[in-house]
Amino acid sequence: MKRIYLDNAATSWPKPQAVKEAVCLHFDTLGASSGRSGYQEAIEVERLISETRLRLARFIGCQDSSRIVFTQNGTDSLNLVLHGLLQENDHVVTTEIEHNSVLRPLHDLSESRNVSTTMVSPNSEGIVEVQSIQQAITPETRLVVISHASNVTGVIQPIAEIISAAHAQGAKVLVDAAQTAGHLPIDVGQLQVDYLASPGHKGLLGPLGTGMLYIAPGEETSLKSIRQGGTGTSSEQPEQPSVLPQKYESGSHNVPGILGLNAAIKYLTDRGVADVQKSIELLTDQLITGLDEIPDIWRYGPNQITPQIGVVSLNVNGLESHELATILDSSYRIQVRAGLHCAPLMHRSLNTLETGGTVRISLGAFNTSAEISKVLEALRELCS
Ligand SMILES: Cc1ncc(COP(=O)(O)O)c(C=O)c1O
Repeated sequence: MKRIYLDNAATSWPKPQAVKEAVCLHFDTLGASSGRSGYQEAIEVERLISETRLRLARFIGCQDSSRIVFTQNGTDSLNLVLHGLLQENDHVVTTEIEHNSVLRPLHDLSESRNVSTTMVSPNSEGIVEVQSIQQAITPETRLVVISHASNVTGVIQPIAEIISAAHAQGAKVLVDAAQTAGHLPIDVGQLQVDYLASPGHKGLLGPLGTGMLYIAPGEETSLKSIRQGGTGTSSEQPEQPSVLPQKYESGSHNVPGILGLNAAIKYLTDRGVADVQKSIELLTDQLITGLDEIPDIWRYGPNQITPQIGVVSLNVNGLESHELATILDSSYRIQVRAGLHCAPLMHRSLNTLETGGTVRISLGAFNTSAEISKVLEALRELCS
């Protein structure tokens, strides 16, 4: 049986062939670190790293590629902002839809720096309303942190409105684009977002072990580096360089990963995010329409008019979520994820803690309508 991969919210698969070739180019031929040495391969690696930074910058509407910092994953990017920006007694506004990559650093900071957090609930459609954010912001609020889209319900949040509302009240905004980068167009210049964090290995189609953080002009003066070390530049100085991106990129880069990410962004740019978005939208519509016709299925999430990405959560009456995911894999080779998806507060508000969370079907750039039909067929058979 052919594998049907529907766990793209965890990491995307398959990757474009060019991604594999770019990773192999480093293993087979280039084999050098970046920004450290002066021989030909090292210079070529440095050129390719700069090319990736430039491609990523253009991809998200950023004019200055030095404002793109390479990280290990989405979690690493989020930690950089939360630990680098927040100070003793600061206040943060965030939401119940957030991932543990936001909730756990904030918990840690509440203990180490007395950072307090106001948690905003989404409405019954899973949308975090602008007014709720506005009401939660106080004069002490340094930062608002919000996911561009929930990794449990898939609901897209009104981030443009939230960013302007937060700015009007003097707060900075960190957007977690883990589930949207590569699946929805993002323009940081238009959004005027202060920080945008994303993995490189989900919708951006790069290898695992890659991530990025966009830092808006001027923010580098208040954002501390949370790791210090070798940058290959200003080595005589005892302190971390203050220039971008070196300030936040200590130690050797994940060169094979970044070269893979370069090829991935090229693929996405050539194909166009609008095309990926359209394809996922059509498949999500097919999936939701089919699911809503199966009596024993509980689908959690928005009605069909609420904007959403290709992430759909469900349970089948009488089955624990892990049981269902195991049956789907063992009997049908349909690969989905079960559980809380690292977003525990979301499940409290969905009332899905008792069912062990939900089964999450998450679509990617390469899924097909035939695959969705097979998923619906399998679920119909299981429910009959
Ligand atoms: C909304 C959200 N934020 C952050 C992350 C963390 O990303 P990474 O796995 O790259 O650390 C995830 C991953 O599932 C996510 O869904």
